[in-house]
Amino acid sequence: MDVDDIIAKLTAMPESAQKEACAHALEATKDMVFIPSPGPQFEAYVSEADVLLFGGSPGGGKTALEVGLALNQHHRSLVVRKNFVDLGGVLHTLDNIVGKEQSFTGGNRPVYRKPEGGIIEFMGVGDNIDSKQGNPHDLICVDEAAQVSEHDVRMLMGWMRTDVKGQRCRMVLGSNPPLNSTGDWLITYFGPWLDPQYPNPAQEGELRYFLPDPDGGADKECEKDDFVLLHGVKVPAQSRTFISSKFTDNPFYDKEQYAKSLAGLPLEAREILVSGNFLTDRSDDAFQAIPTQWIKEAQARWTAAQPVGVPMCAIGGDVAQGGNDRSVLAKRYDGYYAKLEVKPGKETPDGKTYGGWVIAHRRNNAKVIIDIGGGWGGDAYAHLRENGVDAVGYMGVKTTSAKTADNLLGFTNVRSMAYWRFREALDPSQPGGSPVALPPDPEMVADLCAPTYEVIRSAKGAQIKLESKEDVCDRLKRSTDKGDAVVMAWSDGLKMANLQGGDWSARKPRPQAILRRRMA
Ligand SMILES: Nc1ncnc2c1ncn2[C@@H]1O[C@H](COP(=O)(O)OP(=O)(O)O)[C@@H](O)[C@H]1O
Ligand SMILES: [Mg+2]
Repeated sequence: MDVDDIIAKLTAMPESAQKEACAHALEATKDMVFIPSPGPQFEAYVSEADVLLFGGSPGGGKTALEVGLALNQHHRSLVVRKNFVDLGGVLHTLDNIVGKEQSFTGGNRPVYRKPEGGIIEFMGVGDNIDSKQGNPHDLICVDEAAQVSEHDVRMLMGWMRTDVKGQRCRMVLGSNPPLNSTGDWLITYFGPWLDPQYPNPAQEGELRYFLPDPDGGADKECEKDDFVLLHGVKVPAQSRTFISSKFTDNPFYDKEQYAKSLAGLPLEAREILVSGNFLTDRSDDAFQAIPTQWIKEAQARWTAAQPVGVPMCAIGGDVAQGGNDRSVLAKRYDGYYAKLEVKPGKETPDGKTYGGWVIAHRRNNAKVIIDIGGGWGGDAYAHLRENGVDAVGYMGVKTTSAKTADNLLGFTNVRSMAYWRFREALDPSQPGGSPVALPPDPEMVADLCAPTYEVIRSAKGAQIKLESKEDVCDRLKRSTDKGDAVVMAWSDGLKMANLQGGDWSARKPRPQAILRRRMA
């Protein structure tokens, strides 16, 4: 029975019975410091998900839920914000619930000791969580999780355990929709609820199960009882769910206060927060190199069926740089991109293996553009050349004398140029519209949206300077390998627009012959 049914039943009862039921309820909850509000906050409170995403708009009762769970149901809780200085708001909510007379131990991890035993610790994630010492907690809440990278949240998950028998462990991510690319990972992590292109969407509150890929790829949805063995240990599936809450769901919300807090925000941020919708198309960072809308339009042009008679023109190859990185291949057929090929770095341990992988995917003498800037990309490039493959080495930091399409600006390096060229290709205002079609892939979208740019003055005149790969990766705490592979595949190789007479058969070697062979 959900809360609406209970309320309906209650209000249908005679007055005396209602009074009696209320008295019972008060008796049953008299020891609860926090009482969840009916509606989404209650649903979230009782959700059995190991990882819950709760939220939508400010004032929806996210922080209250986190603090309330810590007060009522857990022994050792940790509530984090991205920045230590933002913890004030969290502590204020705790004040509201337990009263101001609470006792705190200060320091850079303030601790509230519950009178009946148990603690709530508060922490700012900061810039380097890897250097922080994690002690065990049975509840970990990430307040405003869209401001925290996936890497940091996964590190925090590693701090979740308990030695109290029967104590449940859970993680709660309270969040508004992401306002910039740092939080885009939530769309993938909660794909069944948030990714409009997820093949098998889920209802709010429904539990879905996920297992890590032992090879370091993306988590996979699975059945409840599935498990994987990691280092000989059985890892059960993790349950996840999403429950949305808006300020109008919060009976404690003060309309005037709320309006005031939103009034000062820039219009775009206000629109996202008022709608509370994780899927709202975010207006971009003012200096985002590739507008999100253009990428979404390129995805709308995509079909699962590859265009007929168009040869594979280029493969962009991003080489894993070790660790948890992945190797990615982007296969381009004129403007059409096939779904990206991804392998955990472990499966492409050297240039030869990577080269073999490329060759297995290569058709129609497509040009291979391979990142030789790091890892063993150089070895892979050499291996491909030795095998007669038309490969070029891509070195993002190399200088270039190229100019923007309007001939007004130069570029600080090849990476800046390659991203800008891709931006130009996606521009819907060009004659005939953009020729680019991109596959559904929220990580690829997040990668392409991530880099920002600035215009700098140099001895060579004004230049576009893209945010460096290192800076983007530091900010997102992951590699933008999918986006880079897509951009590289655009940076070289044949394009219909560059062919004489606009005819594939005019190029050499003749693609028709090759196509026929492939189809045979
Ligand atoms: N169940 C509850 N009991 C008491 N106060 C609550 C409850 N839910 C929300 N509130 C209060 O409503 C206000 C807004 O909730 P909050 O959790 O801060 O929203 P959010 O974190 O989503 O912005 C806060 O003052 C909070 O203390
Ligand atoms: Mg809050």
